[in-house]
Amino acid sequence: MKLGLIGAGNMASALARGIGEPVVVHDLDAERARALADELGGETAGSNADLAERADVVVLCHKPAQLEEVAGQVQGRAAAIASILAATPTSRIEAAYPGVPVYRFIPNIPAEVRRGVLCYAPGSLAAQGPERELIELFGRAGAVIPLAEELIEPAMAIMSCGPAFMSLVAESFADAGAAHGLTREDARRMTVETMAGAAAWLGAHDYDLEGLRARVATPGGATERGLLKLESEGVRDVCRAAVDAVVEGTR
Ligand SMILES: NC(=O)c1ccc[n+]([C@@H]2O[C@H](COP(=O)([O-])OP(=O)(O)OC[C@H]3O[C@@H](n4cnc5c(N)ncnc54)[C@H](OP(=O)(O)O)[C@@H]3O)[C@@H](O)[C@H]2O)c1
Repeated sequence: MKLGLIGAGNMASALARGIGEPVVVHDLDAERARALADELGGETAGSNADLAERADVVVLCHKPAQLEEVAGQVQGRAAAIASILAATPTSRIEAAYPGVPVYRFIPNIPAEVRRGVLCYAPGSLAAQGPERELIELFGRAGAVIPLAEELIEPAMAIMSCGPAFMSLVAESFADAGAAHGLTREDARRMTVETMAGAAAWLGAHDYDLEGLRARVATPGGATERGLLKLESEGVRDVCRAAVDAVVEGTR
């Protein structure tokens, strides 16, 4: 299956590297498209119309606001459409590409190292196209999680924006360590390796978040002091406010 990427930016390149197959690419920045195509042993296309003729599945990796403009350029040449556009429901994509099977994914940047999360919602004609092959191919970049479409935006806040949120939390802890004398490098390495370790432990223990805290925090001990501070300073409200801001922004 030949994927054709419209847009060769941050998410397109992360997804393509995670999938690890030669692709056809077109981007307004020809050099950006050339670099990604060369890296993956693929080709560039001269236009979005040319790309749609050469690809089995056209993957929309441009900005959401460009949906209708790009659909106008492709004009009935696409056999199937996979979209990673945020805040763009399958109904809008189907209206822009009438009669074409549509597959909606919301991936995240860790797809680049094959540890992505890719939420998935099929369009109304999905069964008429290469749904199983597409899910298999995207599944190389991480966990594909089928989801009711109305839950895609809340999910995006957690798993697509999440890597940015978690990097800010990590930076905050690392800076706190550096403020107490650790080198910046050591503080960052310790923080990131601790996040990776905590994630690995949780994955091996049914995502038992409370259980991990119970294993670390002895009653009356140092960790408990820190946890009580996080709770009293409003860590849950801050996280909720961040997710609310993302979800409300997509409405
Ligand atoms: N970044 C993430 O973590 C993430 C996660 C999930 C979903 N997404 C979705 O993925 C899409 C891309 O996001 P991104 O972060 O990768 O943005 P990005 O880095 O700006 O990539 C978009 C690319 O598309 C190019 N482009 C714009 N119009 C085009 C056209 N008509 N034909 C061909 N290429 C065109 C842009 O070129 P110019 O820069 O020259 O305009 C840019 O290189 C968005 O719809 C976003 O909602 C992103």
